[in-house]
Amino acid sequence: MNSRLSLVALAALLSCSRVSAPTATTAPVAASATSVPAAAPPVTAAKAMVVSAHPEASRIGLEILRRGGNAYDAAVAVQFALAVALPVAGNIGGGGFLLYRGGNGQEGALDFRETAPAAAARDMYLDQQGNVVEGLSTAGHLAVGVPGTVAGMEVLHKKLGQLSWAEVVQPAVDLAAHGLALTAKEATGLNANRAVFQKYNPKKPLAYLAPDNGTWQAGDTIRYAELAQTLARIRDQGRAGFYEGRTADLLTAEMQRGKGLITKQDLKGYEPKWRTPLRGQYRGNEVLTFPPPSSGGVALLQMLQMLEPFDLRKMGWHSPSGVHLITEAERRVYADRATYLGDPDFGRVPVTQLLDRNYNKQRMATTQPHRATPSKSLTAGPGLPAYESDQTTHYSIVDAQGNAVSCTTTLNGAYGSKVVVAGAGFLLNNEMDDFSSKAGVPNAYGLVGGTANAIAPGKRMLSSMTPAILTRNGKLLMVVGTPGGSTIITSVLQAILHVIDYDMSMQQAVAVPRLHHQWLPDQIDAENEALTDAIADSLRQRGYTINPRGRWGRVDAIRVLPNGRLEAGADPRGDDTALGY
Ligand code: GLY
Repeated sequence: MNSRLSLVALAALLSCSRVSAPTATTAPVAASATSVPAAAPPVTAAKAMVVSAHPEASRIGLEILRRGGNAYDAAVAVQFALAVALPVAGNIGGGGFLLYRGGNGQEGALDFRETAPAAAARDMYLDQQGNVVEGLSTAGHLAVGVPGTVAGMEVLHKKLGQLSWAEVVQPAVDLAAHGLALTAKEATGLNANRAVFQKYNPKKPLAYLAPDNGTWQAGDTIRYAELAQTLARIRDQGRAGFYEGRTADLLTAEMQRGKGLITKQDLKGYEPKWRTPLRGQYRGNEVLTFPPPSSGGVALLQMLQMLEPFDLRKMGWHSPSGVHLITEAERRVYADRATYLGDPDFGRVPVTQLLDRNYNKQRMATTQPHRATPSKSLTAGPGLPAYESDQTTHYSIVDAQGNAVSCTTTLNGAYGSKVVVAGAGFLLNNEMDDFSSKAGVPNAYGLVGGTANAIAPGKRMLSSMTPAILTRNGKLLMVVGTPGGSTIITSVLQAILHVIDYDMSMQQAVAVPRLHHQWLPDQIDAENEALTDAIADSLRQRGYTINPRGRWGRVDAIRVLPNGRLEAGADPRGDDTALGY
């Protein structure tokens, strides 16, 4: 304790408005901030914008908007288009969170997260010795949660859509039937997963495999005949086209083939939920985000509270002092996440306490001025190297009426469980791995959890997905979100800080290299060129371990400029595309 700033002293510092961090004045190495890399000029539009992870999905979303559809119609069309164009993450066999704010100020949070099947049990991934059986929750039939996407889209459309259901689903049917050109990234991803697709789908004709045992090349046309038929049933019958009838028959037959758990009752009984968005403040901006079973919304608002007293702008982007403070905030909220967050329908999640300003002030007050707080001193637990993953996907949409949609949707791992429903042509999620298979044992993202996120029948697994919408003085300011597993929360945080604290354009804010810390493992993950050598050295002297890592996340965002124009941020890490009019 003796080297720590006392809680009282730091609390006093925190209570001053716009104080510099205590680290700023006497930092051990005077390394300056990192210069912000240039980014492509942002796409801007006068009225409406779609930013998604695939050019075909953005094109379809824009067409729906031009045809008189609103942002909600476009969201449904984009969601189904991504299920075709972006098999790595887009889905009808997964789930997601959709946050919206209407031009009239009305807002809502639609939870279409997957649920554990009725036959799921807390210890279903443990062997007789109580150890986690590797791979059981991450691939194959037992890893699959009851999908929520189709039910979620139907509920959204019924409440807020303007065009007919058939009109918004049809473009995806066409895309699947006529096919589309593979991007280089998607061709590489499908080729890399060829063996694993074959492992989990023996004897099935799979549209995902290049013909004649070959490999896909960028520009090759890929067609999904079975998926087109499934989407046509959804177009014609709504949710019954997925959760009942032929699709349900095919899905449950698939489960029986691979000893999965999902039954017809699970499918018929799936219900999306409307939840109350979480609301916070950051430097005069209102931040709307997603409540549990997202952990991301709570964590984002906690971090913004922890950071608001500090003048990050003055410290500079990726300066030692700024990185120190942001990392210490991240470490603390991920430790809280592991203990307290889970499905609120199955236990009490102490959201009010976690979002209490005094609580977060005190959490931050344990920060040492120039030293990293070792994660094991915050709370005990093992850490494993984080696993790079970008398999979730996000889209942001604003229409001409000012309606805004921020939706993150996922299969969890790349191509989910790798199981394709025979005869129905779609991939199933491996979302069960987002539960905590055993308290304290990390999941695929290196995230640990406790009993709050234990498996139970019908329960929703904890998520990091963090769709967010910012307003200022009652007017829309930003729509933002990203995939990236455990890195989602810190990537959304950085996109917000980049605009508000560091004056970046929306495109620059999503493009510049990112950092990430998640309490365990106790290391700062750093994208290439995120830190200069001098700044990395300075951080090491403060006790940080820097872990260089490949790029992560695909932040897709829209900002409303002071003149009312829309400015997009389409993440250059992927095929992400902004289109507007
Ligand atoms: N499957 C990633 C997440 O929901 O956080």
